[in-house]
Amino acid sequence: MTLSTRPSPIPPTRVHDMDAVVVGAGGAGLYAALELKQELGPEARIGVISKLYPSRSHTGAAQGGVCAALGNTEEDHWEWHWFDTVKGGDYLVDQDAAEVMCHDAVETIINLEHLGLPFDRTEDGLINQRRFGGHTRNYGEGPVRRSCFAADRTGHAILQTLFQQCIKHEVAFFDEYQVLDLALPKGPTGPVSGVIALETATSELHAFRARAVLFATGGYGKVFKVTSNAHTLTGDGMAIPYRRGLPLEDMEFFQFHPTGMYKLGFLLSEAMRGEGGFLVNDGGERFMERYAPTMKDLASRDVVSRSIYLEIAEGRGIGGKDFVHLDVRHLGAEVLNKKLPDMSGFIRTYFGLEPLTDLVPIQPTAHYAMGGVPTDIDGRVRADETGRIVPGFYAAGEVACVSVHGANRLGTNSLLDILVFGRRAGKKMAAELADLPAPAPDHAAEAAVQARISELLGARDGERPAVIRDELQEVMFSKCGVYRTEQLLTECRDEVAALRERSRNLLVDDKGCRYNTDLGEALELGFLLDCAEATVASALARRESRGGHAREDYPDRDDVDWLKHSFAMRRPTGATELRYRPVTITKFEPKPRVY
Ligand code: FUM
Repeated sequence: MTLSTRPSPIPPTRVHDMDAVVVGAGGAGLYAALELKQELGPEARIGVISKLYPSRSHTGAAQGGVCAALGNTEEDHWEWHWFDTVKGGDYLVDQDAAEVMCHDAVETIINLEHLGLPFDRTEDGLINQRRFGGHTRNYGEGPVRRSCFAADRTGHAILQTLFQQCIKHEVAFFDEYQVLDLALPKGPTGPVSGVIALETATSELHAFRARAVLFATGGYGKVFKVTSNAHTLTGDGMAIPYRRGLPLEDMEFFQFHPTGMYKLGFLLSEAMRGEGGFLVNDGGERFMERYAPTMKDLASRDVVSRSIYLEIAEGRGIGGKDFVHLDVRHLGAEVLNKKLPDMSGFIRTYFGLEPLTDLVPIQPTAHYAMGGVPTDIDGRVRADETGRIVPGFYAAGEVACVSVHGANRLGTNSLLDILVFGRRAGKKMAAELADLPAPAPDHAAEAAVQARISELLGARDGERPAVIRDELQEVMFSKCGVYRTEQLLTECRDEVAALRERSRNLLVDDKGCRYNTDLGEALELGFLLDCAEATVASALARRESRGGHAREDYPDRDDVDWLKHSFAMRRPTGATELRYRPVTITKFEPKPRVY
């Protein structure tokens, strides 16, 4: 890399003293911040640091609903929900954690209702509920209505409700700040004493000192070419601790949602099938009846996505191509326009098709990371596979792995996860705050971030980050996607390593300090590469098929050797070490999964 003689001037780091900081302003972060304020009172200095303006957080893109066994429209029980979650996760779920989530779901939804969330209503005025994939009555007998919804804008309604509550409780917001490192003055096992962030508007560095830090930064779907995830979902909150030697759990499990808009990847909610839509192949056959005779189009997502791929592989994609059709024509104008207005609008706007009369082209789209930063049920981050805790460090939402989703998450359990565990993490942080040590600065980390930014702004030649990112997305989608093999994964690992080498020589065109998103994307590329590396290493090692990890060369689930969680840890040499931890089984013995 050629350095210019006069690197762009970077202003000195500004320091903020807080009690606790939350990184990420989606549902998990906002609920945690609200709890912190409610528990600690108005004097508490609680900061939410977000890469985006909060109402643009990806929670706002969640569509079809959030589940809880309210039983408002038909009989339901939280224990049925618990079973479905464990089975949906292909028995890799920690059952004690899933029990907490499914049990607490009911009270959490009522709490949100009291906070002002405008749910759809039944004729009796109760919260309305609809069907979603993998949610069943009486331990698998057939579909049940468990998803509570606000049309197909449920995440948007949650985000607005929690954001308004946080404003009311005077949470301090730092919008458009990109967190680049943790303050870990005594090393990776903690305590964590803050974060270091880049202010997008000015390129100033800020050191936030705090006794407690929560990461609620979402996933890393942007590592794949076709994805439902927004541009900003680059795995920052996973990569930062991983770089510091902390583990990432179960990274081989990535969910492909069956109904992404063909080529675009945008999500067409499972609620379209929950309301009665179904998939058809080139012959017009409703093929899910063959793969999942009971649940049909509402089988779990891994099952439906694999079925679509098999139809395509056997030549029954539409016109022999790599997509199938979603048929919602029979739902009628009332359902499409009132219960699924955004979905209907997407189809009209992006495809120029009319859902009342046209079939809709879909393909599986990279949607959700089941893996992430390992935590306990109160959001406390684990330092390793023994369960040791990193004092002062918490994580919740998609960035975290509790693990309640195991090898495959059920639809609507993600909004539930962010709410239940965001809230629990906030409560735990509030309870532990007084006992955590006063924050100490991490000058070495601040200097390293400063140096990296100067290096990127000073470089006069090199490759543009977007070129490497595009290649990364292509290789991850084609070689570490729905179906994997030893050969594909080995090629993928080597290609990711080559891309990392190339990324050491990046050219950031914009040399300025005002809204330098070019710089931000260069930094995000590094995070994506870290997540890709951990994902591929974990996938290559796991020689079985389970949930979102389907190996053509090892097509069966292997509970003897692989009923365990992976922990990927980067060693000082740069190599990824894999360790394992047993799955917690408290009630449901693993069985073959049939839908
Ligand atoms: O299909 C959907 O509406 C997505 C829901 C989810 O991922 O939980």
